[in-house]
Amino acid sequence: MVRDLLTIAELGRDGLLEVLALAERTDLGTPLAGKGVALVFQKPSARTRNSMEMAVVQLGGHPVYIQKDEVGLGTRESAEDVARTLACYHQIIAARVMDHEDLLRMAAATERPVLNMLSDKSHPLQALADLLTVRQLTGKLEGAKLAYVGDGDNNVCRSLAEAASLVGAELVVASPEGYGLPDTLDNVRQVVDPAEAVEGAEIVYTDVWVSMGQDDETETRLKAFAPYQVDEALIGRCPEAWFLHCLPARRGEEVTDAVMECGKSAVWRQAENRMHTARGALAWMLEG
Ligand code: CP
Ligand code: NVA
Repeated sequence: MVRDLLTIAELGRDGLLEVLALAERTDLGTPLAGKGVALVFQKPSARTRNSMEMAVVQLGGHPVYIQKDEVGLGTRESAEDVARTLACYHQIIAARVMDHEDLLRMAAATERPVLNMLSDKSHPLQALADLLTVRQLTGKLEGAKLAYVGDGDNNVCRSLAEAASLVGAELVVASPEGYGLPDTLDNVRQVVDPAEAVEGAEIVYTDVWVSMGQDDETETRLKAFAPYQVDEALIGRCPEAWFLHCLPARRGEEVTDAVMECGKSAVWRQAENRMHTARGALAWMLEG
């Protein structure tokens, strides 16, 4: 059975917990020895590219970073033909795409496992690191109280919500009307008021208001999200809570400098966990 990893919902609860367990193991060896992993990027990246490259190296493999214009996914060549070509050389094909549909087409075209490194719909590698971080900080997943303040309809929030729901964490998402989570999920509640979302929270999470590819909506979005900034007043409502952000952060928009730098900010631990969970995800895919 080919182990693609395209969304958290498809990974499922068992898969998710297996990846987290693999992420914390130090005896994975070098299952990628002599093998390549293709890393195709249609959008910029700091964390995903670097954490994936290092995770591949730690498993003994060779990462090949491929920029947008090099393969021209869907322009120079179809998504299917790109996937079939990369499958000739690589054990795993990983891609960051504008359109989630391209990942489905790549996965359908090859027997090699395909890994989603972010699409318009989901960011499973981020959610895996988020959950590992939540478990390290609070000592649990089931019953952990999470608040997400901001764009509920973006890739990061969707994957976080799927993950929280699968493990029984309680997530409250606060978003302006029209920008809420598209799905109804067990243990996930949508509200409009940020203060209501952070009430009793152990984790407060936010992400940018304008995701990559949404630049033409910048003005409307900045207006709609202005009351959703995570500032000291908002986190002052739950002083014990840890602050998380997938990064990159637009300081002064969705979060203030003071919150990013406060003693309860765990954003760098979260960023480091991207590498450990990337290693876990790759190891899980290789077991297929
Ligand atoms: N969080 C995240 O995916 O960061 P990059 O866009 O820098 O990879
Ligand atoms: N929602 C953001 C996440 C970046 C890691 C974006 O898609 O730009």
